[in-house]
Amino acid sequence: MITVKICRGTLCHVMGGSDLPLIPDFISEKIKPHVYFEGTTCLGFCNQDEGLKPPFVEVDGKIVSEATISKVIESIETAIKNK
Ligand code: FES
Repeated sequence: MITVKICRGTLCHVMGGSDLPLIPDFISEKIKPHVYFEGTTCLGFCNQDEGLKPPFVEVDGKIVSEATISKVIESIETAIKNK
């Protein structure tokens, strides 16, 4: 099972993350049973000075920065392949 944590914190929300909670609607039926989605409060990545930009989503423990729906879906597919 791949856990996907979608940041619902204010910064991620205003920096383009407002549509990310819709990701489950965009993943294929084949992949859906392998993915657990969770909305979280600030993941803490926005406070780190590592040059990473919001919005953030965590896919199977890995940060996806400047997350978009398609970028997150790609990460989910990669994570499933690597399991
Ligand atoms: S608000 Fe998203 S990581 Fe902080």
